[in-house]
Amino acid sequence: MSQFENTRIVLASRPEGRPTPQNFRLEQAAIPAISEGQVLLKILYLSLDPYMRGRMSAAKSYAAPTDIGQVMEGGTVAEVIESRDPAFKPGDIVLSYSGWQSHAAASGSQLRKLDPANAPVTTALGVLGMPGFTAYAGLLTIGQPKPGETVVVAAASGPVGSAVGQIARIKGARAVGIAGGPEKCAFVHETFGFDAVIDHRDPDMAGKLAAACPNGVDVYFENVGGHVWDAVFPLLNTFARIPVCGLVAQYNASGDFPGPDRLPTLMREVLSKSLTIRGFIQREFVAAQGPAFRNEMASWIADGSVKYKEDVVQGLENAPEALIGLLEGKNFGKLIVKL
Ligand SMILES: NC(=O)c1ccc[n+]([C@@H]2O[C@H](COP(=O)([O-])OP(=O)(O)OC[C@H]3O[C@@H](n4cnc5c(N)ncnc54)[C@H](OP(=O)(O)O)[C@@H]3O)[C@@H](O)[C@H]2O)c1
Repeated sequence: MSQFENTRIVLASRPEGRPTPQNFRLEQAAIPAISEGQVLLKILYLSLDPYMRGRMSAAKSYAAPTDIGQVMEGGTVAEVIESRDPAFKPGDIVLSYSGWQSHAAASGSQLRKLDPANAPVTTALGVLGMPGFTAYAGLLTIGQPKPGETVVVAAASGPVGSAVGQIARIKGARAVGIAGGPEKCAFVHETFGFDAVIDHRDPDMAGKLAAACPNGVDVYFENVGGHVWDAVFPLLNTFARIPVCGLVAQYNASGDFPGPDRLPTLMREVLSKSLTIRGFIQREFVAAQGPAFRNEMASWIADGSVKYKEDVVQGLENAPEALIGLLEGKNFGKLIVKL
């Protein structure tokens, strides 16, 4: 096949601060030819995740930036439409990392087959995929919640935060969530079963969080930074653990951060309270914990102890606006684009 049938979105320019639609460009390109060991994929679903903002920037990070003119990266669920790998046949549904495009060539070795009879295939991008795994590995390996302890997590209606709170409760801890707006807060409390939920837009967020954590905070799963961190910091108990997973509140920031230097205060508290602050990128745990995660999470979903919410946007052309909105809390649940 060599017709111009592949619709794709490339990085047109690097954003300064908040991304705009002009930072992206929709293009048509030739559908790639496949070689031995490869398959041709038709993308069904694209995952949108906060890390994509980092890839748009040239700033030094844990992963190389996307080049200008290059297809935006992203996790995808796809259908095999042509195969030169005997392990795959047309019609197979796979998890791939094909990015923001309608078609892609991929090596069979980079794909994982999905069985739609086991779980809705979109869950491979959310609760049963990278975000769910991030919650599982970060909370259990670094956070290590114990029965009766208090675990706080923000972005609590999203795929990482919602799984963190529900796993914390499975381990016997109290889960306190932080989310933006009354609708998200109600959902986190009623559907995800968090013990308490605080709206981070509430002018008295810090006071309400303190009231919701009468015994202090033993695990703070850091997803956002910013004013949420400021509210949690004074509540940390001696020996508190802080898995630093994400800082979405500052992903659109440019230049130096304002305000006085609070590093000496932070270091004093790290010392005097014996705090453990440990950043992580989920992939460091995949080889050791990936299979256990998939088994355990699947059983928690099956017995109802973990629930999930997806926010599905229709059409690849709407991906840029959806990603811009994700960084401002406009999504409600795991953000996925249906192609
Ligand atoms: N370390 C890793 O390997 C790894 C892997 C996956 C994800 N992550 C990180 O985990 C975090 C959550 O990811 P996700 O996929 O579950 O995202 P998500 O919750 O679906 O979306 C991000 C959410 O962040 C919240 N938010 C945005 N700006 C905020 C602010 N200024 N203050 C407070 N909350 C704000 C918004 O929710 P509200 O409307 O509720 O505020 C928004 O919906 C992100 O920081 C992401 O980068 C890290």
